[in-house]
Amino acid sequence: MKSSPVKLAVVGGNRGRAFNSTLDYLKDKVSLTCICDTDTEKIAAWQKEFSGIIGYASYDEMLEKGDFDAVFIATPIDLHFEQSIKALRAGKHVLCEVYAANTLAELNQLVATVKETGRVYAMAENYVFMRPNMLVLNMVQQGAFGDITYAEGAYIHDCRPLRFNEKGEITWRGEMFRHMRCNTYPTHSLGPVAKWMGLTEHDHMKTLSCFISRQSGLNEYVREKFGPEHPSLKPGYWKYGDSCTTVIECTSGAIITMRLDDDSPRPHNMCHYVLQGDRASYLSGRHDGEDGLVWAKGVSSENADGTAKDWDNLYKHAYKYEHPAWAAHMAAARKLGHGGGDFFVLDDFADAILTGRRPFIDVVDAAAWSSVVALSAESVALGGAPVLMPGFSR
Ligand SMILES: NC(=O)c1ccc[n+]([C@@H]2O[C@H](COP(=O)([O-])OP(=O)(O)OC[C@H]3O[C@@H](n4cnc5c(N)ncnc54)[C@H](O)[C@@H]3O)[C@@H](O)[C@H]2O)c1
Repeated sequence: MKSSPVKLAVVGGNRGRAFNSTLDYLKDKVSLTCICDTDTEKIAAWQKEFSGIIGYASYDEMLEKGDFDAVFIATPIDLHFEQSIKALRAGKHVLCEVYAANTLAELNQLVATVKETGRVYAMAENYVFMRPNMLVLNMVQQGAFGDITYAEGAYIHDCRPLRFNEKGEITWRGEMFRHMRCNTYPTHSLGPVAKWMGLTEHDHMKTLSCFISRQSGLNEYVREKFGPEHPSLKPGYWKYGDSCTTVIECTSGAIITMRLDDDSPRPHNMCHYVLQGDRASYLSGRHDGEDGLVWAKGVSSENADGTAKDWDNLYKHAYKYEHPAWAAHMAAARKLGHGGGDFFVLDDFADAILTGRRPFIDVVDAAAWSSVVALSAESVALGGAPVLMPGFSR
């Protein structure tokens, strides 16, 4: 048990900055000491906001010289694995942005390195901690859903502007879509569902199939924004398509459907979820600001033949099922990023280090959820055939 605040370094000063008010709120548990970014303007902006922190343009130099216990990795996805391994080997605890690593070999190495080093590794999967998702988790844990048979998660977010800089050059997100034909961003959809369904061990998810639609929305955007001569308009330039559907069959016989769509013109919905049990049903709001709906046997209305009648607003059940973590931190969490998710990510990570307990989203969760990237690529290459999910074990 550690008594002083966790000394934290951040690498990747853009996403990391979304945590500034959270860092302020959690100052008894977390103390920011270092910032690393290859862009020195980013470092200067952080140093202006947090006086006394040391800036590094090189991650290796920060690992060698910096005074910190833990690092929050918020760099482009392709850097996550290498930066995590280096930090663990340097004796640092790691909080890593989504997702953890690209290949199954890397994920296995990550799990092994966390076991060998005994450091805390948590994935910053903030959607798991959002209020409705935690409320539904509490309903599940109290038995309100009964036996779960089906779930959905979808991340629908028009990210086309993020694929290019203002000159029309491809960013790291654009490069992912150029070279990867798979579910490239699974954890926001799978994370909450996996927690509801208790998918924590290696044999809980059995097979995965993945299908990708043809690409059209991105080219439409490019033509309009950068003109018809843009190099990305050449046929076959993008490996990815507009919409990706992944189906996971669980060992329990339950089915999970995930949709990822980053390229279609429509208002976003990054938090679409469905959960079906034999005693209750959950349907999330269709857009930000719309509440979710729930029907639960014994408390919601029924037709004369005993079938479900009307949905209830999810929060009608908050008096009984509000998650204790949310009940304790409601006022603060609501004001902080990603519907409170960012607050709980950092709070849980710091608590895990300070008390020696396992983080809520540990390396096995991180590896299992991230493995969808590599496995979906395999399935897509096989025309959507189911591939076995090897899983990871504690
Ligand atoms: N959980 C969420 O809700 C959420 C939201 C947004 C982004 N993210 C994740 O956060 C990460 C960063 O996303 P972003 O939108 O901030 O990307 P970004 O491209 O806007 O910023 C990346 C930052 O990392 C810096 N950087 C690049 N290479 C570096 C290196 N080798 N060493 C140090 N710094 C380096 C860049 O200069 C830049 O400041 C990604 O993994 C993304 O998936 C998660």
